[in-house]
Amino acid sequence: MAKIRLVVAALLAVLLAACSGSAVSGGGDAAGGDAASEPADGAGDAASAPSEGAASEAAGGEPIDVGLLIPTSGVYALLGEDIRNGFELYLEQNGGALGGRPVETVEVDEGEAAETGVRGAQRLVEEDQVDTVVGIVSSAVALGVRDLFDERQIPLILTNAGADDLTGAAASDYIFRTSFSNRQPNYAMGRWLAEEGVEDLFIIAPDYAAGREQAAGAREAYEAGGGTVVGEAFPPFTTTQDYQPFLQQIRDSGAQAVHAFFSGGEAIAFVQQYQQFGLAEEIPLYGSGFLTDTTVLPQQGAAAEGIRTALHYAPALENPTNQAFVEAYTAAYDEPPTQYAVAAWDAAQLLDLALADFEGEIADDPEGFVTALEGVGEIDSPRGPFTLSDTHNPEQPFYLLEVAPGDDGQLTNIVVEELGSVEDPN
Ligand code: PHB
Repeated sequence: MAKIRLVVAALLAVLLAACSGSAVSGGGDAAGGDAASEPADGAGDAASAPSEGAASEAAGGEPIDVGLLIPTSGVYALLGEDIRNGFELYLEQNGGALGGRPVETVEVDEGEAAETGVRGAQRLVEEDQVDTVVGIVSSAVALGVRDLFDERQIPLILTNAGADDLTGAAASDYIFRTSFSNRQPNYAMGRWLAEEGVEDLFIIAPDYAAGREQAAGAREAYEAGGGTVVGEAFPPFTTTQDYQPFLQQIRDSGAQAVHAFFSGGEAIAFVQQYQQFGLAEEIPLYGSGFLTDTTVLPQQGAAAEGIRTALHYAPALENPTNQAFVEAYTAAYDEPPTQYAVAAWDAAQLLDLALADFEGEIADDPEGFVTALEGVGEIDSPRGPFTLSDTHNPEQPFYLLEVAPGDDGQLTNIVVEELGSVEDPN
């Protein structure tokens, strides 16, 4: 009997969400009304529900309003789509609920710049009055909204933006991250390059908060291991279409290797131009894994072959949670998942587990909800299980990846070796 009541409540939640405005969707529904991102029929069947007991029973009680702040325009638009997909997949697998409560999602475009992202966050917090916000790709946006969330005591779960300070010097009780700090993958890569005795490194990244931090992480580890950085370049962020002047600078520097951070549309352009300029045969290209992740690899094609990067996730990782996740995600969206989708799926899981352990409304007891989030412990992620540090950043291992043909002959990121974890300096 109780079970029937819960199922009716879940159906009601989906109906309610369907009636409530174009940008709002119930958790079990397709995301944001965008047909391209709609999970295929039966998407939720492919993998078992990830968290036992919490939401899978079916939803009841007042809905939780979740603001999804992701780029749906600009150089990082592809990343936003993956975040939406990962979040929606988790909801789909859990009957549209988190912690047994129905979910309503409001999606707002983060855009490309800090200003657009801050405006989007203000809208979610002030007009839509959401209980929590999930998302944000750009560090510039995340840094711009830090005080808003901190002062208003609204939990923000970052699913990408790696701004080091947000889980370091400027950490907030209300900001959690399920992705990485910018320093982490780059430090892992720089450390490996030095250990391998790769000499004379050139470092390149876009000129904004994340580019500067990712470059700094690589330099720190590489120099600590005895390497010499022979040059560095920071092309203007979002406006550089032609990387030739920078590629010429690399060639002229006498570098023996290059470490790069680019992502989304910029990663596609940089990797293609690196090959077209003839550098791919002259100087091996390394980087943080965003450079060749599954979002951009299909468009980079052969230009990416052989590039080695460091990241905390690849679809090829062998663990049961990942195998089920890859199967469900691929069935739903017809493409393999990325670390962006994983971070969003894990953010949903974090909320699910915290809400299962929390009574009442988040807005009435934000401190209590932070305690519930902090109490979650281990998250059973497709990247492997991880916990959050005292400043709410994932403590996780990184992997050396290489773009090479997979079993099906398609280019993919194969896992070469584990690189260990990287501690955040606090
Ligand atoms: C960031 O701005 O923090 C950022 C953006 C894209 C990435 C990684 C980090 O792929």
